[in-house]
Amino acid sequence: MEADNSATDWVARSLKSVWHPCTQMQHHETVPLVAVSHGRGAWLYDHDGKRYLDAISSWWVNLFGHANARINAELKDQLDRLEHAMLAGFTHEPVVRLSEQLSSMTGNVLGHAFYASDGASAVEIALKMSFHAWRNAGRATKQEFVCLKGSYHGETIGALAVTDVALFKDAYGPLLRAARVVASPDARGALEGESAQDVARRAANDVEALFAERADHIAAIIIEPLVQCATGMAMHDPLYLQLVRALCDRYQVHMIVDEIAVGCGRTGTFFACEQAAIWPDFLCLSKGISGGYLPLSLVLTRDEIYQAFYSTDVTRGFLHSHSYTGNPLACRAALATLAIFRDDDVLNRNKLRAANLTAALAPLADDPRVRHFRQRGMIWAFDAIEPDPARAATFSRRFFAAALENELLLRPIGTTVYLMPPYVLGDDESALLAERTRKVFDQVMQA
Ligand SMILES: Cc1ncc(COP(=O)(O)O)c(C=O)c1O
Repeated sequence: MEADNSATDWVARSLKSVWHPCTQMQHHETVPLVAVSHGRGAWLYDHDGKRYLDAISSWWVNLFGHANARINAELKDQLDRLEHAMLAGFTHEPVVRLSEQLSSMTGNVLGHAFYASDGASAVEIALKMSFHAWRNAGRATKQEFVCLKGSYHGETIGALAVTDVALFKDAYGPLLRAARVVASPDARGALEGESAQDVARRAANDVEALFAERADHIAAIIIEPLVQCATGMAMHDPLYLQLVRALCDRYQVHMIVDEIAVGCGRTGTFFACEQAAIWPDFLCLSKGISGGYLPLSLVLTRDEIYQAFYSTDVTRGFLHSHSYTGNPLACRAALATLAIFRDDDVLNRNKLRAANLTAALAPLADDPRVRHFRQRGMIWAFDAIEPDPARAATFSRRFFAAALENELLLRPIGTTVYLMPPYVLGDDESALLAERTRKVFDQVMQA
């Protein structure tokens, strides 16, 4: 590694050589690019020594802080044992132990784990597996997928096809196989006098109408359980998941839940599905599962699905692979992450953390320029009331820049401000986060 230079050097060199993700690069003529030097706990530091509270867990992946001593120690040990081995024809301790533990966390309902690297590749796997399982069962007409309005499942061609965010999807429309889009159970859509459960029932009726008409052609419905994050932290009642599970059983449609963003304790339980007391046919996991250390994703599935592929005929097998499938380092980071959940009673301690931050955010919740203040587990969100479309269009970028000036890493989605901090936030950090979020909001609304 070269010696540390100033932040400005790295920024200039990055802008010349790195194409940054999810970014209109021209915006960096005005929007800051931060060159991170190192991280500790909930904080990131740049090369000039400025610090930023990572209030969105570095795109929702970091659970136990940066440079976590326990995960570091496990990874260092693993580095000296085995950095990687292919998973076709070979296996290794970390991938076996991780698969066993995850399966047992589903009460062994989801008995097999298939591995990949990023979230989108887990979604691709679930979609392909569903389609292929029906084909192997002699139901080759079941080829369509259903997704929810506002859904987000990743950027690869298959995952984008079941995504319903125009900004990410529209440019690639001609490349994508159309999915059927059903109503979102987003509780913000409640009509006068309706509860979140009423909205859930209404949205489930939409699913039923489609299934009743086309179940013979539908392979699966894919859902982000409890919180549709990328569309703007749209939250729904767990009842929706129960209703869809029952419909999937009745009409013989697979249920894929994408817990890539909401799994690993983010909504209060380890799996979001637990709050509805249901299990899907496929469960996609990524992001937090490696503690935010290494790219790791996986699909957990039921034994019936696994058995549908088990045969002497090679073509009935699931012949999907990625070079880094089940990487031992990534699996070891995941095992360390699961150990922290167990040893530190994380889910219970997060309840207290969540109550503290919710209380500290109360003034924002009551602010007349705010609507739909909402929280589930370790996710908080509110929508800024910004009637001027031009100001609304730049709200996120202006907020991001103002947040950095106030030592916060926050990136609103449109006019939705959200917090998704790591599970190591102390009381002082919580208070600072709430106070500064309010200050930044004031600055941005008044500017
Ligand atoms: C629900 C959901 N699914 C899939 C993805 C895609 O994951 P990745 O960016 O790792 O490909 C994301 C990413 O934000 C997500 O939030």
